[in-house]
Parts: sequence; C-alpha cells; structure tokens
Amino acid sequence: MERRGDYGYDAPYGLVTFAVLGAASAIAAIVSWWSQRGHLTAIMGFYGAFFLTNAFSFLYTTRRGKFQVWDNVLDELQLRGDERVLDMGCGRGAVLTAVARRLRTGRVTGIDLWSTHDQSGNSHEVTMRNASLEGVGDRVEIETGDMRALPFPDGAFDVVVSSLAIHNIHPNAARAEAIAEAWRVLKPGGRLAIADILATQRYARTLSNLGATGIARRRLGWRFWYGNPFAATSLVTASKPVSA
Ligand SMILES: C[S@@+](CC[C@H](N)C(=O)[O-])C[C@H]1O[C@@H](n2cnc3c(N)ncnc32)[C@H](O)[C@@H]1O
Repeated sequence: MERRGDYGYDAPYGLVTFAVLGAASAIAAIVSWWSQRGHLTAIMGFYGAFFLTNAFSFLYTTRRGKFQVWDNVLDELQLRGDERVLDMGCGRGAVLTAVARRLRTGRVTGIDLWSTHDQSGNSHEVTMRNASLEGVGDRVEIETGDMRALPFPDGAFDVVVSSLAIHNIHPNAARAEAIAEAWRVLKPGGRLAIADILATQRYARTLSNLGATGIARRRLGWRFWYGNPFAATSLVTASKPVSA
C-alpha cells in the first residue's frame, strides 16, 4: 500500500546515536588500519559494523517495517468497517491511518501528547494532514491528552490499538494505569492489540488481572526491531468478555 503522508522517525535521538557511533567507529577503524594497528582495526571495525547495522535496522523499522507488520496485524483483526477504534499514542498516524483505511462507517480516534523526543515532528496538525493526504480525514478524530487519563466514557470503543507508545511512560505502575484506561474505554466484547518493546509481559499480566480473555503475546519479527533483537517489538492481544 503506497503511503502519501510523512510519518517522521521514531525516537530520532536513538537513531542518530546509533548512526554517529557507527560512523565514528568506522572512521577509527580506517585510521587504525592506515597506521597498521591490526588489533585496534578489528575492534573498531566490529563496533562500526554493529552500530551501523543497528542504525539501518532502526531506520528500516521506523520508515517501512512497522507499516508492513501493522498491515498484517490489522488484517488479522478482520475489522467489519463499522467499529469505533482508539489509537493510544497515535503520533503522526502510522497505525491510525491504516485503521481508517479499513473503516467505512466506523471512526478511529487518536490521542497523543505530541512528544518530539518520541517521534520527530510530532503534532496534531501533522497527523490531521497525514490523514487528509491518505484520503481518510473524514474517518479520523484527534485528541490531545494523556493515555493515563483518557477523556472518553467507559465502553466507548470496539477496538483499542497502540504502537510503541506505552513504554514511554514511567514507571511500570503508570504503564499499568494506561492499560487499565484502555480496558475501561473498551466495550464488552471489544478487542485490544498493543505492540511495544520492553514491558509487554507486564501488559499481559495487567490485562489478566483486569479479567481479559484470550490473552496472547508474540514477537513481531525483525521488521519491527529497533536496532537489534533486544529492542524487538511484541504484540499483546486480548478481548473483554461480553458480560464484563
Ligand atoms: C514512538 S511514537 C509512536 C507513534 C505511533 N504510534 C507510531 O507507531 O508511529 C510514541 C508516541 O507516544 C506518545 N506518548 C508518549 N507518552 C504518552 C502519553 N502519556 N499519553 C499519550 N501519548 C503519549 C508520544 O507523543 C509519541 O507520539
């Protein structure tokens, strides 16, 4: 699917750090080789390759990989097209607009605090512009707010999604508040799909304590690595029982 919007770069300082360390190590390796210091050449060559590989992986994920993976995740959700969907920490709208493309009479709401540390050029206006460029502006609503205190009534949404957003909250207890909020605004019978690095096991535990059913957690593969397997993204899916 061709994208017309501009979705910036996730955690831009992380990407720049990998690129700078990679370039500096590579230059040091070349200088060491020139001055015939074989041992240092090997060490600096290793670090150069390591950091540059991390930088390329990060760049690939943020510009391409996460879009492909979310397309598959949303296909698996098999939306009918009439749902009310919430995207927590929507940023510039990578997932938001992909959801909107799958809706006909439904609507998707994005909420965000617009941190430019977490995503470059992040803003309400940019996200609305991306929705228009993708031809889905009529199906998208954007709110400014904190996902730990969602400004929506209980049971307002059929589906809640979130991508790479909740880990930005500290500490773990506050992340649990965001999960509890996602649960609160979900309708009985509704579904959750949360992709994140770091804390997904805790999200699954919190959901279990809240009474979620069908909780599943799986890794989303190398297309969603932010540099290396230690920064791999996992997906937690769950449902709210109809009787909840
Ligand atoms: C790495 S970006 C991911 C954005 C988008 N989901 C995507 O996949 O492109 C993380 C987003 O979470 C947002 N965010 C961080 N803490 C938040 C909070 N407490 N409430 C709402 N949004 C938050 C940031 O502003 C940022 O837009």
